[in-house]
Amino acid sequence: MSNTPRKILVTSALPYANGSIHLGHLLEHIQTDIWARFQRMRGHECYSVCADDAHGTPVMLKAQELGITPEEMVAQTRAEHHQDLQDFYIEYDNYYVTHSEENKQLCEDIYTKLDNAGYISKRTISQLYDPEKQMFLPDRFVKGTCPSCGAEDQNGDSCDVCSATYSPTEMKNPRSVVSGATPVLKDSEHFFFDLPKFEEMLKNWLVSGALQEEIANKLKEWFEEGLQQWDISRDAPYFGFEIPGAPNKFFYVWVDAPVGYMASFKHYCDQHNLDFDAFWKADSDAELYHFIGKDITYFHCLFWPAMLEGAGLRKPTGVNVHGFVTVNGAKMSKSRGTFIKGRTYLDHLNPEYLRYYFASKLSDGVTDIDLNFEDFAQKVNSDLVGKVVNIASRCASFVTKRFDATLSSNIIDETLLNEFKQAAEGIAESYEKRQYNRAIRDIMTLADKANQFIDAQAPWVTIKEEGKETLTHDVCSLGINLFRILVIYLKPVLPKLAEQAEAFLNDSLTWEGAQAPLLNHEINKFKALMQRVDMDKVNAMVEDSKESLETKPAIDPNSPLAKDPIADTITFDDFAKVDLRIAKIAKAEHVEGADKLLRLQLDLGGETKQVFAGIKSAYQPEDIEGKLTVMVANLAPRKMRFGLSEGMVLAAGPGGSDLWILEPHEGAQPGMKVK
Ligand code: MSP
Ligand code: ZN
Repeated sequence: MSNTPRKILVTSALPYANGSIHLGHLLEHIQTDIWARFQRMRGHECYSVCADDAHGTPVMLKAQELGITPEEMVAQTRAEHHQDLQDFYIEYDNYYVTHSEENKQLCEDIYTKLDNAGYISKRTISQLYDPEKQMFLPDRFVKGTCPSCGAEDQNGDSCDVCSATYSPTEMKNPRSVVSGATPVLKDSEHFFFDLPKFEEMLKNWLVSGALQEEIANKLKEWFEEGLQQWDISRDAPYFGFEIPGAPNKFFYVWVDAPVGYMASFKHYCDQHNLDFDAFWKADSDAELYHFIGKDITYFHCLFWPAMLEGAGLRKPTGVNVHGFVTVNGAKMSKSRGTFIKGRTYLDHLNPEYLRYYFASKLSDGVTDIDLNFEDFAQKVNSDLVGKVVNIASRCASFVTKRFDATLSSNIIDETLLNEFKQAAEGIAESYEKRQYNRAIRDIMTLADKANQFIDAQAPWVTIKEEGKETLTHDVCSLGINLFRILVIYLKPVLPKLAEQAEAFLNDSLTWEGAQAPLLNHEINKFKALMQRVDMDKVNAMVEDSKESLETKPAIDPNSPLAKDPIADTITFDDFAKVDLRIAKIAKAEHVEGADKLLRLQLDLGGETKQVFAGIKSAYQPEDIEGKLTVMVANLAPRKMRFGLSEGMVLAAGPGGSDLWILEPHEGAQPGMKVK
């Protein structure tokens, strides 16, 4: 390492704790992970943290729906998210949750500093309120008729039909998505953060190099539109942190979420004896980068630096914004099966395919990234399997079988090796600038050269020729050394493949190691490092995604099904044990001393059974005598006070006068089996 080690902290946006990790999230985490791994390989002191974003109304309501506490739900989701990410080899030094003691403490500290510095004001505002659920309604929890075009069932802030944007108070026929009640306007005191006071600071920060050009331009547009006071409080009931000195007022989730970056790191620092303040104080010499998607730019590029500045802390060195993932050229869609969860992907495909594919497409821009499945399979198969892994598989067995598993001590083509060595700085620069697509392109150009060298030397021919042992040994050894350098350069992207290659090469792969080829070095047996992408598996993944997201129609809470849900599944054999028969009600009569029962004589066409049925509240004997019904014919007889009951008739309904006996369609005969 020529430069002095840098101190770096990187973060990815905190996924909401009320949904699964999907391919969109993964683009971001993979982008961050590659960058962090690269920095560590280069010898820098680089930490990466993330967390689940636990707070807010959607999380609170989802937990209620599931009948668990938000704390329980968030703990489950956090564990699931963390596992998903780890299975994609995405490694954070800490994956935390915003509902933590550290975060509460930091939020209170920062808020108190902002308040003391005069950046917080209070004002009463009027908002839609659900009188039934007794809560204020965020825009997305109000639906109604678009005030602009009259389309029904539109969201509280915008219309899907005419694209108009409005305030939920302007909607016609508004209703609460939570309870269905008609919302009313209600006053409440809110707390505001004085964003406009930070305009000058933000304009300077904008030109400090922290932002991509497109993002800087976006900020300029926002400055022209004028910055507004930011509403940072929410009323109870709310899952979040209570504002100090303001009972029943909570921090809006977007206040404590970015502070959650700090809290996650604080937790790590406390456990590892690291100086937290050195990273966050105003004059910190550490670098801080946030990786985010373009939809949350406003929060990270205006509110967040302003909060940090106002609280006397450092600002981000960079906010790295990426575009959105599209699949096969379109927005991810649940019905097309292209809204793919990380877990569903893992059920079918190797995570390194995705890491490689995203890397090959990611630049430092904010354009959307399309995951085209044909292209995905083609690129992985041709680049990784066909080019990189192929180099090793063409050379390895000759060395292990014929040359004592030891690489030669002679470099047969110094020029070629030098070209590979000298590529290191250019590739490093591409990684540093997040131009992964360029790094990958350069690495694949080298891979092509390595394959051309092997093609030209044809060791599989020379191995059979007398007197060419040394040549063959030298060629295969250089091939393996070139493969080794390629894997070093790919290691931030493909940590698992690199690990397997390390086992094969009997060497640990470091960035500087690219400058020092392995000479006279023993290697291990080569095992296949990567399988080709199988399109059948891709298709199966898409099919699975269709299923896993099929939405069931909501069940009306008053429906019979809601009150009495469908029982556990039984086998056909279980069902076949029940002998159901058509029976004619030959006789029906009152039973003396029984106020619920009728005595029925059921004719099965040859055999008669006596059944006491609890249907007196709904039927008179004369209503049913002579009619056909269905009975359980093989039920064990039960001795009752009034005589033996030899089965039961089938009826539905809650009881009382709401009871209905089953009757077959016309044509059924007594004694017929119902099956
Ligand atoms: N909880 C907030 C972030 C708080 S950060 C202090 C949030 N969560 S999210 O789950 O909706 O999104 C997390 C990240 O995933 C965001 O950076 C978002 O842009 C990104 N993506 C979500 N869907 C995406 C795609 N389809 N494509 C690429 N990134 C996407 O926002
Ligand atoms: Zn409209």
